[in-house]
Amino acid sequence: MSKDVLVVKDLNMHYETLSGDVSAVKNVSFTVKEGESFGLVGESGCGKTSVAMSLLQLQADNAKISSGSIKLDGLEMVGMSESELREVRWDGISIVFQGAMNAWNPVIKVGEQIREAIREHYPDNTKVENTEKIASLFKMVGLDSSIMDRFPHELSGGMKQRAVIALALSCDPKLVIADEPTTALDVVIQDQILKEIKKVQELLGLSLIYISHDIAVIAEMTDKMAVMYAGSIVEKGPTSEIFANPQHSYTQSLLASTPSVVGDKVKLNSLEGEPPSLINQIDGCSFAPRCPNRTTTCHPELDMELVEVGPEHFVDICSANRN
Ligand SMILES: Nc1ncnc2c1ncn2[C@@H]1O[C@H](COP(=O)(O)OP(=O)(O)OP(=O)(O)O)[C@@H](O)[C@H]1O
Ligand SMILES: [Mg+2]
Repeated sequence: MSKDVLVVKDLNMHYETLSGDVSAVKNVSFTVKEGESFGLVGESGCGKTSVAMSLLQLQADNAKISSGSIKLDGLEMVGMSESELREVRWDGISIVFQGAMNAWNPVIKVGEQIREAIREHYPDNTKVENTEKIASLFKMVGLDSSIMDRFPHELSGGMKQRAVIALALSCDPKLVIADEPTTALDVVIQDQILKEIKKVQELLGLSLIYISHDIAVIAEMTDKMAVMYAGSIVEKGPTSEIFANPQHSYTQSLLASTPSVVGDKVKLNSLEGEPPSLINQIDGCSFAPRCPNRTTTCHPELDMELVEVGPEHFVDICSANRN
């Protein structure tokens, strides 16, 4: 059985603001194994990027991890000093940020920017070795090696995003986080990039955390997944199992609002309303105000707890409905 690369346990993170604390990550626990692709899905504002940034501890200055544990290869990252974290970033965990393709320095050639990252982590490499490494990374993500001598503005959106993926792979990380890596691209290019990421992940045996608001993309990209709502994981388990047997009303609603290219034509149900503000403490079921399955036997005020409902399949269930 493959080993655990990342173990996140009871992670809580909030942003301190003038209006109060925004609880963006609440009691989040999940494990990513070696070579596994793990998906994080949910609507805008549910805390996906906050989880990703907490893993790398690259959050905004007003963000505070109040409790919990993040272990990478058994090494506790919560409480690490900035210099210890620098060791882990890039060669332990690397990230393709949401909108990263626009973050290239416009006046430095892309190859040079990747070379800088490699030099930091492999100071003994020769210039030729690094050039060869960049060329092989470019080949892996479907770019011609001559592109390393171009400036960012000379690249199309898709090429820039492929180069970002090459950058994320440049220090041979164990785990790559891809946060909505294709959102800014047109659908054809999106599909190509998704296939590229999947190919590279399988080729290198990488562990991947893939973040998207699009549950159809999660189906294509991941082995296991977690559904987030209002800062909490409300359902998690093997992706195929969750798609075949979604248990939480929020997961069911996300699936009901997503078109399928196979099977009969069905009417899509849009999910009314929007997620709650995370600045107010939410007691009990955070999805209750929008839940299409809310009934008189439902107790939205009661404590919620993740309960195992199938092999490795966990769902947030209120205490009245627990066995
Ligand atoms: N620096 C910050 N200060 C205060 N609140 C913040 C800060 N950054 C994010 N938030 C809030 O934290 C919550 C979670 O945001 P986050 O960006 O993690 O969501 P997300 O699921 O990644 O959304 P999206 O799909 O739009 O990227 C939101 O309510 C957001 O407004
Ligand atoms: Mg985000």
